Amino acid sequence: MPGNTSTPEWWRGAAIYQVYLRSFADGNGDGTGDLAGLRSRLPYLADLGVDAIWLNPWYPSPMADGGYDVADYRSIEPVFGTLAEAEKLIEEAHDLGIRTIVDVVPNHASDQHAWFQEALAAGPGSEARERFWFRPGVGDGPPNGWKSIFGGPAWTQVPDGEWYLHLFAPEQPDFNWTNPLVREEFLDVLRFWFDRGVDGVRIDSAAVIVKDLDSVEESYTDHDGVHEIYREWRRVSDSYDARILIGEVWLPDQERFAKYLRPDELHTAFNFDFLSSAWEPAALRDSIDLTLATHVPIGAPATWVLSNHDVARPVTRYGRAVTSWDNQERRDGMPSDLELGRRRARAAALLAMALPGSVYVYQGEELGLNEVEDIPEELIDDPMWERSGHTVRGRDGCRVPLPWSGTEPPFGYSTGEPWLPQPAGWRDLTVEAQEADAGSMLSLYRTALRLRRELLGDGTLTWLPYGDEVIAFRRDSGLVCLVNLGAEPVALPETGSVLLASGPLDGGLLPSDTAIWIMEA
Ligand code: NOJ
Repeated sequence: MPGNTSTPEWWRGAAIYQVYLRSFADGNGDGTGDLAGLRSRLPYLADLGVDAIWLNPWYPSPMADGGYDVADYRSIEPVFGTLAEAEKLIEEAHDLGIRTIVDVVPNHASDQHAWFQEALAAGPGSEARERFWFRPGVGDGPPNGWKSIFGGPAWTQVPDGEWYLHLFAPEQPDFNWTNPLVREEFLDVLRFWFDRGVDGVRIDSAAVIVKDLDSVEESYTDHDGVHEIYREWRRVSDSYDARILIGEVWLPDQERFAKYLRPDELHTAFNFDFLSSAWEPAALRDSIDLTLATHVPIGAPATWVLSNHDVARPVTRYGRAVTSWDNQERRDGMPSDLELGRRRARAAALLAMALPGSVYVYQGEELGLNEVEDIPEELIDDPMWERSGHTVRGRDGCRVPLPWSGTEPPFGYSTGEPWLPQPAGWRDLTVEAQEADAGSMLSLYRTALRLRRELLGDGTLTWLPYGDEVIAFRRDSGLVCLVNLGAEPVALPETGSVLLASGPLDGGLLPSDTAIWIMEA
């Protein structure tokens, strides 16, 4: 394989591109992205210089939550294509040196999943119901007062009077992980995809799959029982060559977080602490220090993430008065200075890519897309909108289909009408427009990813004393990264050659909100 993906521990320093399939590229003109579209654009990803792609769920799904409501874990949603096409994708990506990571959703299924349909039909007390959390209510109400993460109660009543638990939407019933059948089923799902050549699995909501229903308080986050489950998963992944497990683990407590990354559990987990950090020097430095202090002792590589399909686009977020991210507050619609946000997002990209470990790029981040905040209400698809009683618009704003070429929507994404409307202003942000511009965000990402492959990735860093306002460190290769988060320009080192800067330099000075990579003399 070309690229740096031929080593068994390829994942330690990999650049992983997140493909939100429904919005990447549409191959059949129905307005929804699909495998045909993705396969036709694989050369774009190879040119970008990524080592792997992670695809959001591609399984048959009623799409109550963008595919995180899985009706069949061993097949492909017909709107996206077929299993044969998925196998071709995996093979073609491998030919280009790109590995494939799939999303596995163990916490919940779709209410259309065969097991849930069986459970409904079988009735109270049946074994079929034991694969989920069915309970009688208390009085006229649900078994307890737990709330759904999307808003509203976490219980829904079925016609025979029992209630079932769903931490997310009612269309997403939670599996009962105390049931050995559930455990066996997922081990088999892992084998199914590893047998088809996938290189890794991203585990959705990894920390919430074990519950204590007897607790009055919501009691589902980070129960010790999860670890035995992921040890079983690791035994499966270890029985194949170089396959990895990546956890979606949102946990503020880093000691608890680190437990998921012990040598016999997951290989890596997303760094939400860094993703959530404000664009402030002390906050970012603290986050980097905390991340390294968490990972180094257990020998797990850190990950660096700026965005994904659940959070506001960095260009918009970094242009707001409050630049940190908070899932509960979201800050949808808070005014944003997009020019400032774009400058910071460019600097943030060079920071994230220079840090030791692996890095994630969410599709469209490399184009500097902004959050789309004016999607007409009748087109909003995210269940958060309904579940919040129309108070939270949710995550569609970062899921708008990519602009590829041309001067008006659908910008080469489809020949039909995109499932979410694209802003007309994206004409300057198409791949085509940015490829022709050496100063574009796309050109910055391409150059940075190429340099990163040669000079960065896994390893260590040494902090450099550069004052409170500047994040400054040297990597093992001699590459020095400086990010000026202060208001005033700062002097550049007198020696060394500039490899890349996120914005124009001011003579010998590094302007505010600008990052630079320098190779030491
Ligand atoms: C996390 C996923 O990233 C998000 O998109 C989804 O809604 C929830 N898990 C539930 O599956």
